[in-house]
Amino acid sequence: MWCGRVALRRLQRIAVAPLNSLSITGGLPGAVQREMSSLPRVYITRQIPPEGLKILSESGQVQFDLWDSDDVPVPRKELLQKVKGVDALVCVLTEKIDAELLDAAGPNLRVLSTMSVGFDHLSLEELKKRGIRVGYTPDVLTDSVAELTVALLLSTSRRLIEATHEAKTGGWGTWRTLWLCGYELANSTVGILGLGRIGVAIAERLKPFKVKKFIYTDVAPRPELASLIDAEYVSMDELASQSDFLTVCCALTPETKDICNKDLFSKMKNTSIFINTSRGGVVHQEDLYEALSSGQIAGAGLDVTVPEPLPISHPLFTLNNCVILPHIASASYSTRNAMSALAANNLLLGLKGQPMIKELKL
Ligand code: DGY
Repeated sequence: MWCGRVALRRLQRIAVAPLNSLSITGGLPGAVQREMSSLPRVYITRQIPPEGLKILSESGQVQFDLWDSDDVPVPRKELLQKVKGVDALVCVLTEKIDAELLDAAGPNLRVLSTMSVGFDHLSLEELKKRGIRVGYTPDVLTDSVAELTVALLLSTSRRLIEATHEAKTGGWGTWRTLWLCGYELANSTVGILGLGRIGVAIAERLKPFKVKKFIYTDVAPRPELASLIDAEYVSMDELASQSDFLTVCCALTPETKDICNKDLFSKMKNTSIFINTSRGGVVHQEDLYEALSSGQIAGAGLDVTVPEPLPISHPLFTLNNCVILPHIASASYSTRNAMSALAANNLLLGLKGQPMIKELKL
């Protein structure tokens, strides 16, 4: 269903009504239809939070169609049909934006706006080749991701999931001296793999827990960011061997794929905790399973896996020392709405030929 400025009054309800009530029905007057048909066409691959849809509909600059569900991603076949001839596309991280999809969209497509900070689902080379501009949503999710990372770290290191399970299922006997003991942040060394905005935000939150030292590694030292948290630049090997808590904050790229593997885990202390809220692809999961089940490392907290969802039969789910979340690091109402709004604004600016608020340099 294509929606334009004329439908604004009805679409405004999206800010307050459940989105599945969104539908534009009935015939629009001929003049209005003509006006609408000249507006750039946008396809939205998911029922994104209301803020973004409101911005698009109130702009009067675009007509859009969307996959009207948040529970199920748009089937690939449907997506390839729907993108035909569109001028712009809003996507989320479940859609692979590759040569096949860009070919299906055709030459009108000039703007892609992803509602994510991660861009490993985009074939940047193909987008660049076609001159398509790309918006993404960093910064607005930094607080939410950092907050969740701290929650996951503490849940893992202080064994909260195991503990609630024991309490609920009769495992809670007498008070015991070493039962459900974990590892504390006080006097610890926290290592950050890939220092960016999110790594800094995590360290800022962990500092009040009396962390002794922050260390990080990256392709090169990042003195400006590091000075904010007084972090020392170290090699990958030093990061592995010195960290009591190692948190992964790097983007998934061909260079970082499987970077957390047997080699890294074998250098970590058997008391250390591994945390990943970036992308599952940076971890070699079989190696992680081995490290956790053999006691090479003490525990892992993962918000991201390969694949997603991780099948419930996956061996990692059998381990008490592995806490797995379903990719919820940015999942707060305010952040998801801010991401949706930023994705919409990026798209509108891109279509107007203006610099986007957050644009990837291709
Ligand atoms: C992202 O934006 O890339 C996160 O993984 C989900 O918010």
